[in-house]
Amino acid sequence: MSFQNETTETGESIRQPQTTVPEDTGVESLGETIIEAENLDVFYGDEQALNDINLPIPEQQVTALIGPSGCGKSTFLRCVNRMNDLITSARVEGNLYFRGKNLYDEDVDPVALRRTVGMVFQEPNPFPKSIYDNVAYGLRVQDKVENLDEQVEDALRRAALWDEVKDQLHTSGLDLSGGQQQRLCIARAIAPDPEVILMDEPASALDPVATSKIEDLIEDLAKDYTVVVVTHNMQQAARISDMTAVFLTGGELVEYDHTQKIFENPEHQRVEDYITGKFG
Ligand SMILES: Nc1ncnc2c1ncn2[C@@H]1O[C@H](COP(=O)(O)OP(=O)(O)OP(=O)(O)O)[C@@H](O)[C@H]1O
Ligand SMILES: [Mg+2]
Repeated sequence: MSFQNETTETGESIRQPQTTVPEDTGVESLGETIIEAENLDVFYGDEQALNDINLPIPEQQVTALIGPSGCGKSTFLRCVNRMNDLITSARVEGNLYFRGKNLYDEDVDPVALRRTVGMVFQEPNPFPKSIYDNVAYGLRVQDKVENLDEQVEDALRRAALWDEVKDQLHTSGLDLSGGQQQRLCIARAIAPDPEVILMDEPASALDPVATSKIEDLIEDLAKDYTVVVVTHNMQQAARISDMTAVFLTGGELVEYDHTQKIFENPEHQRVEDYITGKFG
């Protein structure tokens, strides 16, 4: 992967990922840690949005981030592909590792990083281009145009959209339904073959049928990719994720564990109150 190569060449600051959250989370049992926050703080001006986050995210699993509005879920996602760089008031302290390399080291190229760590947003946002050109976009930017037709088809198949659009590849992506547009955005995100896909409430603007397709797709994607997904929907987090991180007001990560444990027997009363709908 381009990012990995570009950043690991320097060698000096590579470190082995360590699990720094409660040792009994068993995250190791799910495979290698790909992303790890260590004492991560984020501020917007004087306001702190994330407070001392320690979070190891396992490779090729689905990790859900849940918590009430304003607790910093989107802020965390945006740290992982350095989208917060685009917000002038945002300041990041602490460490955030990707395969042991600190993403905030000076030699990290955020543009290359975003190829390795793709993102899908709440509102489907296809470009005002054809279906084909949407999916081909990232490939053309990287000049990966060999066998472009096959690559576009493959991404659309992996996004479970091919059968619905194969006869209309040159019509506008904006003419698709909301759920199809979101799967198109997922196809666009996976076409350049990232390692991680960040999703910020990817189904919250969709109807139940489209939501269910996205949920199936997320589970499927975790066979090839690491998925980190923000959701407000508890049932969705419980259904689709392997690990769940619960953020609460103040930008604090209160509990992180196997999803089943979080939903069946959380350690913290505040987490239980949140997931049973007593607040938030
Ligand atoms: N661009 C910004 N400028 C200033 N403050 C911001 C900015 N983005 C977020 N914040 C603040 O940071 C805190 C965390 O916001 P964030 O969007 O990460 O929360 P969230 O958990 O994603 O919420 P929601 O569930 O509503 O999407 C909030 O207090 C928010 O007001
Ligand atoms: Mg958000």
